[in-house]
Parts: sequence; C-alpha cells; structure tokens
Amino acid sequence: MTTTGQPGTETTEGLRGRIAAELGRARARTLALTSAVDDDDLTRQHSTLMSPLVWDLAHVGNQEELWLVRDVGGRAPVRQDIDDLYDAFKQPRSDRPTLPLLPPAEARGYLTTVRDKVHDLLDGIRFADRALVADGFAFGMIVQHEQQHDETMLATHQLRSGPPVLDAPAPPEPRSRVAGEVLVPAGPFTMGTSTDPWALDNERPAHTVDLPAYVIDAAPVTNGGYREFIADGGYDDPRWWSPAGWRHRTGAGLTAPMHWRRDGDGWAYRRFGRWSPVRDDEPVVHVCWYEAQAYAAWAGRRLPTEAEWEKAARWDPVTGRSRRYPWGDEDPTTAHANLGQRHLWPAPVGAYPAGASPLGVHQLVGDVWEWTATTFRGHPGFVAFPYREYSEVFFGDDHRVLRGGSFGTDRAACRGTFRNWDYPIRRQIFSGFRCARDARPEEAHG
Ligand code: AVJ
Ligand code: FE
Repeated sequence: MTTTGQPGTETTEGLRGRIAAELGRARARTLALTSAVDDDDLTRQHSTLMSPLVWDLAHVGNQEELWLVRDVGGRAPVRQDIDDLYDAFKQPRSDRPTLPLLPPAEARGYLTTVRDKVHDLLDGIRFADRALVADGFAFGMIVQHEQQHDETMLATHQLRSGPPVLDAPAPPEPRSRVAGEVLVPAGPFTMGTSTDPWALDNERPAHTVDLPAYVIDAAPVTNGGYREFIADGGYDDPRWWSPAGWRHRTGAGLTAPMHWRRDGDGWAYRRFGRWSPVRDDEPVVHVCWYEAQAYAAWAGRRLPTEAEWEKAARWDPVTGRSRRYPWGDEDPTTAHANLGQRHLWPAPVGAYPAGASPLGVHQLVGDVWEWTATTFRGHPGFVAFPYREYSEVFFGDDHRVLRGGSFGTDRAACRGTFRNWDYPIRRQIFSGFRCARDARPEEAHG
C-alpha cells in the first residue's frame, strides 16, 4: 500500500479507500495515546511546554472540522463555539490547562461526530473540483496534522511523571557495521518537490541547488560519542558554544541530554517512565540545537545545512534524480526505518541497512529528528497553501530546521522533503543530529 500514491496511477475509488485507511490509522493512534491514561492525567499539564493531552485531542477534531467539514464539505459547523479554545495562535500552551476545555468524554464524542461527517462527505467528493482537494490534498493535510499531534502527544507522555503506561518492543539490533563518513560529490540536485501530492507548502516547489563537495556522517551521533563530549568537559568549555548557546547552556544549567542522570560512573536515561543504563550505540536524542552545534564544534565538524541533509537523503548518483526516500521511491516498511511509534526509542546504529542511501548514509529517516544548521525559510518560489499559519508565519531566524523524522513520526508525515522546525533551545522533541564538514580539496577532486 502506498501512503501518497503517484499522480495519475490511482482510481477515485482507490484514493477514497486510501484516505479512509489513513484517517483510521491516525485515529487509532490518537485514541491509543489518550486512552493510556485516566481523565485526570489527560486534563493535567505535564510540562508548561506542552498542552494537556485533552487539548490536543479536541484540537485535532477542530482542525478536521474547520478544513474538511466546513471548507471542503461546505457543511454546517458542528461546534463553532469552541473554535477559539482550540486555536493554537489564540491560546499559548502555558494557558491551555486553565481554559474551559471539553472534558475527555465530550472531546471523544466531538471527534466521532466530526469523523462521521467526513466519511459521509468523502463518499461524494469530486477530487478534481478544487486545488484544495486535488489528489485528496486536504484529507492528506488533516491526516498529517493528526499524526503530527500524535508525535507531540508522545513527547508529552515522555515528560509525564509516574508509572509507565506505554509499552512497545525494543527496536531491531544492528545488522551491519556502520561508522565514519561519506563523501557527497559536488554538483546540483533537486531539492523540494512539485509533484508529491500530499507534500505540504513548505516542501514546494522543486528547485535546483548546487553544492560543493562535502562529507557527512554515515550515521547519527550516538550516545557513546555524546558521552565523550560530556566527559571531555564539553558542557563547561565556552569555546565550543555559540554566544547564544553558551548563554542558554548557563542559564538553563544544561549538563547532559534531557532525561539523563548520572548512574554510578555512567549515565541512565528515563524513557516513558522507565530508567535504564544509556546504551552507547543508539543515536542521542533530546538534545537542543545549541548542544548539537557545540558537540559538532568540539568534534572539529559542523552541522549539515538543510540542503546537505536532503542531498545525502535523496540524490541518486546513478540517475542524478532526487528520490522520495534514501532507499528509493517506495513507502517505508519496517525494514527501512524506525518510524510510527512501533518502538519507543531510537534503534542502534546499523539496524536499518535496507534504509541506507545509495552513497551509504544510514538512518536518515526515522530514529531521531536531525537538527540542521539552517533557519526555517520558504523554498524559492514558496506560496503559502492553504493557510499562512502552517509554515509561513514561522519563517525567519527564530527556528532551525529538523529533518528525517523520529521513531515517533508516522510515515504519512515523513519523507525526504518533509521539513520540521523548532526553536534552538527545544529538546523535549525527539531530536538528535549528525555532523558534516567541507570536503578537503584532495577529497573533492580525488
Ligand atoms: C511542524 C511540528 C512544528 O507541532 O507546531 C501541528 C505541526 N502545525 N499543528 C507543530 C503542527 C499545526 C508543527 N510542527
Ligand atoms: Fe495543530
């Protein structure tokens, strides 16, 4: 099954069925994440960085009502009275627990009512009528929105205190030895997309970017590597930090990734309520951009630019084409990448040889979101669609781009062009990184 289909190869009935299946998959995850805890827990704020889970729950339904029931379907509002409560721009996260939110049972009922109307209007939809619904775009946008909030809710679960409520099998063990770095030769590649039907506005349009030769890590930076940075006094040496990063490191008292604590001579981390010793061969997660940048400087490297990340992930040296994923154009399977909350932490390096790029870069997709050096801006020719508040209002110097998706990201909201962004101080998200450097002249021409 394909999550996004290729234009022109799917019947209208096929598209309807795929939309229904994707909506159902997102909803099953939303319900699993919100039924794992009791009503008191759903209504509480576990961190001022996050909404109460019950806010995410009804917000998902409200976005679906606004776009699919009212706009696409032209139907009467279900609950116009709650629009302001669930408008992320009108309600700062810190205020959300004090709002008169729908109680959990009412929120679930609201989601069901909205979803029933969506299935009803989906039956009669003519996808060719408007740009908003061409190739099912508005439905795909709402599927991705719900899946994005499902990842946000998973991050809220990680911040919760108290006994564990989520469980999943451990990720696969390494199947290949992966180490070192990969040379990406100089030359142009196609960044972004104009054809992927469910690609969001900030991934568009496709455009050519010409890069000099560079070298990028074959795998994300691991806990083992990161522990060496800590042991070498990396957190106490302003040489490695940018001025803003050092101010933040000092003000916030950072000494290790979020959710780590000292454990005898070593380190332990807390994952969804359980403590265990830090495993060295897993990608490091829960670091902010400033920490990633400091590590890279300490290692004599730098963070890749967003374009470098995408060329490493998509460029096929044989055809010169950019593909949807590192392994090709096919949708991710469980052999390609650690996605979709199937596992609750990153897989050790070498666990996904089938997901490597042609140049031998591993685990670009899944495991951890990877910080890039780049601030979030529109691609050349960017046009906000269908609303400025998804991407455009976040363009500027405040946010850094993250790429690749994490173990908490669903495949519907992850592809070689997908762009995420956050403030450089944020680390409650499932964020890690890999390093890069300029190629030396003898490498570039060798
Ligand atoms: C793309 C993850 C930064 O969660 O703020 C959800 C996604 N946009 N609802 C966010 C989003 C509107 C967004 N990120
Ligand atoms: Fe949202």
